[in-house]
Amino acid sequence: MGALDDVDDLRGWLALAEKLGEVRSIHGAHWDKEIGAASEANYKSAAPPALVFDDIVGYPPGMRVLTASMSNARRLGMTLRLGTDLDDRALIEALRSKPGEWGANASRYTVNEVETGPVKEHVIGPENADLLAFPVPQWHEADGGRYIGTGCAVFTTDPETGVLNAGAYRMQVQNGGRAASVNIEAGKHGAAHVREWFAREGRAPVTASFGHDPLLLVVAGTEVPAGVSELEYAGAVRGRPVDVIRGEVTGLPLPATAEIAVEGWLYPERREQEGPFGEWTGYYSGGTEPVLTMDIERIYHRNDPVQLGAPPGKPPHDYSYMRSVMKSAMIQDALIQSGLPGVEGVWAHEAGGGRQLLAVAVQQRYAGHARQVGYLAAQMPAAAYMNKFVVVVDADVNPRSLNDVVWAMCTRTDPAEDIETMRQTWGSRVDPLREQGVPPFNTRAVIDACRPWTRLEAFPRVAEASEELLDRVTRRWPDVLGGMR
Ligand SMILES: Cc1cc2nc3c(=O)[nH]c(=O)nc-3n(C[C@H](O)[C@H](O)[C@H](O)COP(=O)(O)O)c2cc1C
Repeated sequence: MGALDDVDDLRGWLALAEKLGEVRSIHGAHWDKEIGAASEANYKSAAPPALVFDDIVGYPPGMRVLTASMSNARRLGMTLRLGTDLDDRALIEALRSKPGEWGANASRYTVNEVETGPVKEHVIGPENADLLAFPVPQWHEADGGRYIGTGCAVFTTDPETGVLNAGAYRMQVQNGGRAASVNIEAGKHGAAHVREWFAREGRAPVTASFGHDPLLLVVAGTEVPAGVSELEYAGAVRGRPVDVIRGEVTGLPLPATAEIAVEGWLYPERREQEGPFGEWTGYYSGGTEPVLTMDIERIYHRNDPVQLGAPPGKPPHDYSYMRSVMKSAMIQDALIQSGLPGVEGVWAHEAGGGRQLLAVAVQQRYAGHARQVGYLAAQMPAAAYMNKFVVVVDADVNPRSLNDVVWAMCTRTDPAEDIETMRQTWGSRVDPLREQGVPPFNTRAVIDACRPWTRLEAFPRVAEASEELLDRVTRRWPDVLGGMR
């Protein structure tokens, strides 16, 4: 893979992406809403490049912010070390069965502890800690503050086993830059670690990185199975362990090549008002609540650091493509590994933020098979958080095509018979439907959009020309029809 093997940090990643023509620069944008809005305009375009913001108003040149890092197949494929010229189809093909392999191999890639690294070019103690010394964006117009942690990796450990977890949990700058809140939703691995530390020691050590090889964002921001360390998982993806240094205060690891990193402790009572924030659901739906906040004990950073931004919002947003691709691959892998036969394809649609709308294509083998696929898909650990709809379609329907999935629903689902609902399932604080003060349950539906098992043979034939006939006519009139298939 050559050039891909050399990528070790965000700078290496950027250099390769630039060489591939995948990066554009914007100079002179303001951290206050302009970086966010320019990024949003980019996500909505047909082929969003990665954007590097430099010469940010009020900050020295060189202090950069990167967005849209993985908003297309080429850059996501590159980040996952699968190739530098993949399109959507090739990426999905290349990813097949990979998440399971990476998880299985992770323990062979124990992190490599090093004495020091570029992240220690500058080390700042609590007395001088100021996160606003960096051009931290106010991403959306109605956000409650500036968020340094969007594409971040927050590290915690299990106090009993020492297993390290990395989660992308958003971090808002607090207390004029001397503190940052860490917004971990209940049920996430980091939340369990913090709870256990509180019970044992009364405080929880935390480190966080705000600029790194985007691969670390993929693993931190995706539901890697519990007990598998995300850094080892990243090592398995790269085929090489990740170098870490130990934080001077907490002893927790940090990527040695991080651009900016912090450490500190969370205490049960130390909270600050957090939010609102434009969420991945497409709303400012989380409101403002007191959230665990850490006073910054150390800031480490490189010269001219690059923040890895990944602001959500109404999809498509910064990481909705990455999430759709990763979720789809992980859920498909998990369903197949569960022993379920006939699963031909899974797609977690961007319109549902990669979580709320799953389409699963199945080759029906027995009565009840389609519903079994639907129920299981809705509750697999990789899918359960905030799923709302699972649409099960026959194998002749492309689960990635929203048009074809909706067509199957309209023609193969009898609403009174074929929609099953589940209650008190794993929802989220950021669900716009949740009422204040109510625990974050949701409900969800399995929509069976397969031909009824009892009429499989007798169901009307699809009114669509056969592949053979289509091939014949496109070959006959290539000037007119050649580019259409
Ligand atoms: C850019 C980005 C931001 C995210 N922000 C949050 C957040 O603020 N809180 C949260 O609980 N999950 C957030 N997530 C989702 C978690 O990172 C994801 O569920 C991940 O699997 C959590 O790690 P864990 O499974 O080890 O707990 C975010 C994901 C991404 C990609």
